[in-house]
Amino acid sequence: MSCLILDPQRSGQDLAALRILQRNEPVALPTETVYGLAARIGSDLALSRIFSLKARPHFDPLIVHVLNAESAAQLVTEVNELQQRLIQKFWPGPLTILFKKRPAVSDLCTSGSPLVALRSPAHPVFRHLLTLLGEPLAAPSANRFGRISPTSADDVVRELGPYGLEAVVDGGICQHGVESTIVDASDPTRLVLLRPGAIAWESLGAVAGPGIEMVAKAPVSVAAASAPGLLASHYAPRTPLIFVEDTAVPSATIHGEAAQSALLLIAPPRKANEKTWVQLPWRRVVVLSETGSDVEAAAHLFRDMRALDGEGLQRIYALKGPDSGLGLAINDRLRRAAGKGGGA
Ligand code: TXA
Ligand code: MG
Repeated sequence: MSCLILDPQRSGQDLAALRILQRNEPVALPTETVYGLAARIGSDLALSRIFSLKARPHFDPLIVHVLNAESAAQLVTEVNELQQRLIQKFWPGPLTILFKKRPAVSDLCTSGSPLVALRSPAHPVFRHLLTLLGEPLAAPSANRFGRISPTSADDVVRELGPYGLEAVVDGGICQHGVESTIVDASDPTRLVLLRPGAIAWESLGAVAGPGIEMVAKAPVSVAAASAPGLLASHYAPRTPLIFVEDTAVPSATIHGEAAQSALLLIAPPRKANEKTWVQLPWRRVVVLSETGSDVEAAAHLFRDMRALDGEGLQRIYALKGPDSGLGLAINDRLRRAAGKGGGA
């Protein structure tokens, strides 16, 4: 069976997606970050289908997508003052917040944790489906486990079509291109960054205010044991990717590989060392944002990684950029793509 691409502008195609969800099958839906593989949270069968389609281990919990703060309140035991402020400022949008869950929330969503991750997506197509269904939707990124997240409907079809995905609703290219920022604010005196993402840590600090301790520790060591899908091998292209944190002069080996390899830069080279890298005889040089915009670079990151992955290259060398703004999320994804684990 081939995967349907549904056009939400055409009459009845939203209802076709709704019917698949109501049959407890997942449907891929656009969000403002990346495409998600959505399924009803009220059915453990539907939730299990997410894990099987993605080949995702059950220890990796799912983000639950809600329409608004009122629907979030139905799923959690309390919303503290810090969580309330974050919701007011950033929802709908790419911020995922952990809450203490009510017993009714399936353990399949949380992998047994007492905390559930909630976010209210801004994409109108996702919101329309939430409204039609009248129930929250669990949705991880719509890729096979450990692979690059899809930012277009075609990416989703290529990624999950061969494994039996019934349909994707086409909502165009995702605006942000990297996943939501995930924070734990269940202690109202501390804001803990679990995954850098489309909302900059600096913006969260501004909203949290002066009395709140901001904790942006590297989450990798926890990941393997206790799950938060922050595994080192995430976002991996098939072509080996080398994340270059120290841009000191490239070795003779790298020089030798350049003709069969690509160089990926977040912004045009500024430092002398970076210019030395660019001057090697690369098969391809890709700059994520020619104007040096972190927002544009994030939007192009997964798209360009996928494109490079299809070019039969020996390796992709990616140079680390500044950690400010969305640079933190971009460097995190590149580091994980290299299998080195993340760090905040
Ligand atoms: O932008 C996004 O967040 C996208 C779109 C589709 O909404 N979703 C997404 O989901 O990136 P996923 O599953 O690919 O990544 C979510 C991460 C996982 O690494 C998971 O381990 C973590 O969130 N997570 C989910 N629930 C959690 C929980 N209860 N406690 C700790 N981490 C959790
Ligand atoms: Mg993912």
